Amino acid sequence: APTTLQFLRSMNPEAKSEMERMEILADPGFGKHFTDHMVDICWSARGSWHRPRVQPYGPISLDPAAAVLHYGQEIFEGMKAYRHEDGSIWTFRPEKNAERMQRSARRMALPELPTEYFIDSLKEIIKADGAWVPSEPDTSLYIRPFMFAKESFLGVRPAEKVNYYVIASPAGPYFAGGGVVPISIWLSTTYSRAGKGGTGAAKTGGNYASSLVAQAEAYDNGCDQVLFLDSEENKYLEELGGMNIVLVYKDGTLVTPHSDSILEGITRDSILELAEDRGLKVERRRVTIDEWREGVASGDIVEAFACGTAAVVTPIALVKSADFEIGSADAPAGPLTLSLREELTDIQYGRREDVHGWMTRL
Ligand code: COI
Repeated sequence: APTTLQFLRSMNPEAKSEMERMEILADPGFGKHFTDHMVDICWSARGSWHRPRVQPYGPISLDPAAAVLHYGQEIFEGMKAYRHEDGSIWTFRPEKNAERMQRSARRMALPELPTEYFIDSLKEIIKADGAWVPSEPDTSLYIRPFMFAKESFLGVRPAEKVNYYVIASPAGPYFAGGGVVPISIWLSTTYSRAGKGGTGAAKTGGNYASSLVAQAEAYDNGCDQVLFLDSEENKYLEELGGMNIVLVYKDGTLVTPHSDSILEGITRDSILELAEDRGLKVERRRVTIDEWREGVASGDIVEAFACGTAAVVTPIALVKSADFEIGSADAPAGPLTLSLREELTDIQYGRREDVHGWMTRL
């Protein structure tokens, strides 16, 4: 296969005006507005990757028998483009997202998109829509690569026609509190997110679909996110509806769940690496909800945070369940949480030297 693709580019004659775009960029919200273009690459079992295109953003035409609509064969990624002070546009560890998408593809019997094609597709969307990368503090252009089974066939087997797309959406903070106001989380004891041998580690739509009733329960209980426990013993922490979780002990040790059924977060890995650089201890191990509850009661656990591309690093104040609470809704954001958040975002926005080589210019 060629190492680079020749994208066919067609510009959107109905692209939003500069005024409309500026209005959106002034208050983007999260996941509500989309740029003028999208990337589309086709794959077929016989011909591999072909017909790479940049085209006007708009509806995708699907046969009603398209396999994705019936059997959910789909994967996606989440990343961000950041505007630096000098106007240049950068993204964070894109090869990690490319590799994770390849792992997700293997699990979901989808074709693996080569890393070079993945990174080229990000460069193409920015070439077309770079003006959509906002520059206000804590804003970015959220990039959503995704891939699904387009073949019209109702037999249950891996699809032989697949399309990969990239869309982009200007973004402010995921949570209303801007990511620095602590959130509350609802402990789901009735629903599991993923089981042993299942698809929990793949970034596939079905995992998010199965989180929704539990997430709705969280909202009904006044919480921002749901926390899932393991499906076998219902006691080990897994992850939140759409992000990973980390606990902070009073000696500065960071503890995060080790599990085969959670998403391997790139933000989480990066935060833990920054903590290790500071000489802090990091533990990836099984951790029970009782350990958290007792640790907070004894004063051993002093902070907790959620992390992900969308969530960045967001402090957790309170865990609520049907039977008990951990923490309190008005607990202030933890200092280590906030300082790790600041260090990470300083790197992402080019305010601090990128000593790890995490940033790629788009
Ligand atoms: C991300 O953090 O990028 C995700 O894909 C999770 C979702 C909650 C937006």
